[in-house]
Amino acid sequence: MRSLIDILDFSVEELDKIIETAIDISKKPEKYSAVCRDKILATLFFEPSTRTRLSFEAAMLRLGGKVLGFSDAGSSSAAKGESVADTAKTVSCYADIIAMRHPQEGAPYVASRAATIPVINAGDGGHNHPTQTLADLLTIKKETGRLHDLTVGLCGDLKYGRTVHSLISALSRYEGINIVLISPKELGIPDYVKADVLDKCEMNYRETECLEEALPSLDVLYMTRIQRERFSDPEEYERLKDSYILTLDKLDGAKKELCIMHPLPRVNEISVKVDDDPRACYFKQAKNGMYMRMALILKLLGYMGEVGDDATPETFESDELRCQNPKCITVTEQEIVHAFKKCDDGSVRCIYCENKVE
Ligand code: CP
Repeated sequence: MRSLIDILDFSVEELDKIIETAIDISKKPEKYSAVCRDKILATLFFEPSTRTRLSFEAAMLRLGGKVLGFSDAGSSSAAKGESVADTAKTVSCYADIIAMRHPQEGAPYVASRAATIPVINAGDGGHNHPTQTLADLLTIKKETGRLHDLTVGLCGDLKYGRTVHSLISALSRYEGINIVLISPKELGIPDYVKADVLDKCEMNYRETECLEEALPSLDVLYMTRIQRERFSDPEEYERLKDSYILTLDKLDGAKKELCIMHPLPRVNEISVKVDDDPRACYFKQAKNGMYMRMALILKLLGYMGEVGDDATPETFESDELRCQNPKCITVTEQEIVHAFKKCDDGSVRCIYCENKVE
């Protein structure tokens, strides 16, 4: 049984097949309208969402299936102290597949180890958001015609922006990708993404604080929101919140075929006047997310041909070692197995949130 916790859980060939299926679904929706007629998707959202939850629900309904779940942790038994693992075991009795969003890093992975049905990570804290990456890959493919030989600028909150972490991982497997990381120093990409992805895969990347300087070279500009809810210091958020605002005049120096993306929601980092520019792709990106989630559901429920083996990184359990990330699921989950993985750079990392353990 497969789950999707990290975008690297799928090979490039599998991602290509998911993209191909999503394109087919968008062209011939009637062919897929009853494939999941006896299946139930559970959406367990412990954090707010518009696009991810509703596109998952629309995806399952458009496949002929049914949906149950909650969109407010306060209305679930988590409010009474139930663990993520027990929640996943229970929902496995009622549904065929789970999409889970949780504020703590690694929570969907905990769920996938306890559940008896596939679990999809619909966003875990500031860590990963692999299904957003599925939407992003389809958008890049449709708008530029390729997933290789691209200069991709990632702009805004690269520290807490989980969509960026997953997208960099996905792009690491394609040829000719140049990454430009555009952020204030305080919101730079986390060390584990640099070590485990950018450096390990020898990706071509550079860092800058200046959007205007980077813009002319870009094929794709991926704007992100400054993630207010992840800041422990509200004053720091106030200082950084308006770091980047994309306006029409700034686009004067950009390529005519630039693809402007944003996972949304937007606060003010893209002026609404940009929405009518033909280069603005972020609402198409939201629609692409639904087609990719339809294809993903088909894959995980075994309706898309051969399913590969689970990736099994070298891991070990420890009674003494503890993850020191205060946002990790291991801080709150009861009876959790404290487990770690040995990485190629010699570091030891928590298997749930991937933070280095000293
Ligand atoms: N892009 C995205 O994850 O949006 P939501 O938070 O609305 O689901």
